[in-house]
Amino acid sequence: MCGTIGTVTQDAGKRAAAEAAALLAAPGMRVGLGTGSTVAFLLPVLARRSLDCVYVATSPRTELAARQLGLDVRAFDELDHLDLAIDGADQVAPDRWLVKGGGGAHTREKVVAAAAERFVVIVSPDKLVDRIEAPIALELLRFGLAATIAALGDVRVREVPPSPDGGVIADWWGEIGSPADLCGMLANQPGVVEHGLFPAELVTEVIVGHQGGATTKIF
Ligand code: 5RP
Repeated sequence: MCGTIGTVTQDAGKRAAAEAAALLAAPGMRVGLGTGSTVAFLLPVLARRSLDCVYVATSPRTELAARQLGLDVRAFDELDHLDLAIDGADQVAPDRWLVKGGGGAHTREKVVAAAAERFVVIVSPDKLVDRIEAPIALELLRFGLAATIAALGDVRVREVPPSPDGGVIADWWGEIGSPADLCGMLANQPGVVEHGLFPAELVTEVIVGHQGGATTKIF
């Protein structure tokens, strides 16, 4: 899950991917910042580069950390598009579909990714999977919660605070045939604010960081 302490190997990979992605930011850009332990490695590198960028954060945690490092974080009702967004992921499939939301920030993360001209995903190699599997993170409307869950099937509500937008954070635990079909089903269910499946079209590139500091770009 997002924000948990990774192994030394995983952390080295996350750091390498984050450092490579930080080089993609250029002066004057509007940059979206994801959420999680991989993004935590990104923020100090961006701060050290002292770029004249404005930033949008996908969670209060990222916003606080970015501000503490001196990054110019703006509310995301002020900017109508982003040049670049950088974020981690829980699963990256060979067809470039992602699962996100381990930290429950997937709604804002998807809004930011969709607004960005270039959405760059940064991961350690353990995030690469042969096929997408449950759990798929959900953000659900509190209103009608029991009915929404009954319609969706195997959903477990997380014991975490509501999202910054008041949503209930949960996970869908069913069998996944086609991610696209599941995406359609979840998107069509009233009461689902957003889910953690990110279609390939949203993703510009994935940077995989390795223990020794090397990186590979897989898309
Ligand atoms: C948060 C996310 C994170 O990007 C995802 O969980 C990966 O986290 P980490 O970088 O800590 O491994 O989607 O909602």
